[in-house]
Amino acid sequence: MPSPTLEDVQTEAEHLARTSRNADEFMKALVTLIHERLLKYNWVGFYMLEPNAQPPMLALGAFQGAMTPHTRIPLNQGICGAAASSGKTVVVDDVANDPRYLACSLETKSEIVAPVFVRGKVAGELDIDSHFPAAFSLQDQAFVEHCAALVGKKLESHSA
Ligand code: SME
Repeated sequence: MPSPTLEDVQTEAEHLARTSRNADEFMKALVTLIHERLLKYNWVGFYMLEPNAQPPMLALGAFQGAMTPHTRIPLNQGICGAAASSGKTVVVDDVANDPRYLACSLETKSEIVAPVFVRGKVAGELDIDSHFPAAFSLQDQAFVEHCAALVGKKLESHSA
């Protein structure tokens, strides 16, 4: 079977968003879909802001890939903290050259983190690591941001 395109996987992600019963179910299904279908997406997971934590803290949610030592990340640490605190997608082509990087797997070479917004505020983020350097092009960034937006919409539609 030929490798699926990002458009193929995006269509599948949109289908999952419509058919999942809630945001948790959708996030679990989405990390599995992305990890299985896109071979250079070697670790795929969500970090979500803990409600009412002081200082603010990201907690590991649904993920696929190797277990990570970073199950909770403060907003002033890591690529993850940078994306959540700035509200902007962060793409790192070579993690070895980024002093912010918190190592999850020795095999990881590049990373992308896209914030998940709920009613305009950062609620968490979609984090993806690759074993390949500079794995994430502008097309990948658009795809990852679209997936993060689907999760934001799902969270909005299931919370008062
Ligand atoms: N690399 C991330 C930590 C999470 S692991 O990659 C799963 C960071 O620098 O924030």
